[in-house]
Order: sequence, then structure tokens, then C-alpha cells
Amino acid sequence: MKTWLVVSAGALLVGVAGCAAVAVDNDGAARGRAVALMKGGFQANGQATMDRLDQDAIQQACDGAADTPQRTAERAALEQQQLAAVKFPADGKLLGSFAAGEKVAQTGVGLQWSDKAGSVAGGNCYACHQITKQEVSFGNIGPSLLQYGKLRGSSDATMRSTWTRIYNAKAYNACSNMPRFGHKGILTEQQIKDLMALLFDPQSPVNQ
Ligand code: HEC
Repeated sequence: MKTWLVVSAGALLVGVAGCAAVAVDNDGAARGRAVALMKGGFQANGQATMDRLDQDAIQQACDGAADTPQRTAERAALEQQQLAAVKFPADGKLLGSFAAGEKVAQTGVGLQWSDKAGSVAGGNCYACHQITKQEVSFGNIGPSLLQYGKLRGSSDATMRSTWTRIYNAKAYNACSNMPRFGHKGILTEQQIKDLMALLFDPQSPVNQ
């Protein structure tokens, strides 16, 4: 009994020291080990290739270490870079069809290993947003988009900032949890136009 107690106290100490090392060594060796462990748990399958586990600069800037003035400045600079890379439609038209937009918002397939490469992906917007009153199943990681256009109006500035948000939410919020639908080529320009109509068209169920 006595021996067991000594051993377990020792194990506990090692455990606590281990945790402390991980917290302090966030960007160092422990991080490398965690990434290696994660990569070891996945394998490439179809279009889901291993490079999906590589973080780009803005993801890295939001990962791990606590906020410092330097990190905040780094994130602001990266937001500007993402903002500069937002593409607006060449024909200048930001609105498509709200009915098609509703389908994009409802669809969650695409880009998974089980999907055919090159097939059209959905936006899965309902996974995080309430959008219409008719749909009762939705997530709440993002704010409700009910009455989006009615509440905000449809000035050029509002429409362009909403386009930007859908195209690349990290252009406004480096650490946003919203997928970068245009920037990452998840949705096409036409699909984003249709989502814009879903949000802004006065006839859309969103604005009833
Ligand atoms: C994984 C969750 C997630 C998904 C999926 C998602 N969003 Fe978002 N969205 C968010 C979050 C979180 C915010 C809050 C702002 C931020 O953090 O960027 C947001 C903000 C927004 C805003 C701005 C709302 C406001 O009040 O200013 C719009 C518009 C929007 N999302 C549209 C969409 C559309 C359209 C889709 C589908 C193509 C979508 N979102 C999919 C998480 C998500």
C-alpha cells in the first residue's frame, strides 16, 4: 500500500509538470509533437489530401499563444492582406437568385473524401446561422441572419462588406470561425451571388 502511494504521487507530479510544459511551450517542441500526432492520425483519401492539415499564416496567427500587442498587430496586417485579395464579380452584379441561394445555404456536401473531385459544394450556412423562419434546424455559432437586408438596407457599402464577409470572413476578423468560401474556392462566384440575394432580396424569405 505504501509503495503504491509513493508511485502514484510521483506519477501525479510528472503529469502536472508535463501539462505545465505544454502550456508554456506552445509554439515549440510540444506543438511540433501535437501536429505530428495529428498528422499520424489521418491519411489522404481522394481529394482530401494531407495538405489540409497545414495552417496558413492567418490560421497560425490565431492558434495557441495568448494575445500580445505583437500578435494583435500581426493579425491586423494579415486581415489587410486577406481584404486586398477579395474578388468582386467582373460584371459588377452582386445579386443572383434567392431560391438558388437557399439551396446553397441548405447544402452541406462537397470537398469531402467521399465527394467526387470538382463536384459543386454547398455552403452549409444553416450549420451556424438561423437564416429563414421556415427552417427550424440550424446552429448558432454565428449570429442570426433573419431579416438581414431589411434591417441593414442595401447600400453599396453594406452589400460589398457582406460579399467580403462571405468571400473571406477573416478579412474582417482574423480569427473568425466562418469558412472562407470564396478565398478557399469552396463556393463559386455565382453561388455567392445567390447567397447575397438570399440575404438582400426583398422577396427572399429572409426578409419577410
Ligand atoms: C462554422 C460556422 C459558420 C458557417 C458554416 C457560416 N458562418 Fe457566417 N458567421 C459565422 C460567425 C462565427 C460569424 C460572426 C462573425 C465572425 O466571427 O466572422 C458569421 C458572420 C456572418 C455574417 C455577418 C453577420 C452580421 O450580422 O454582420 C454573414 C452575412 C454570414 N456569416 C453569412 C454566412 C453564409 C451566407 C454562410 C454560408 C455560405 C455562412 N455564413 C456560413 C460562422 C459561420
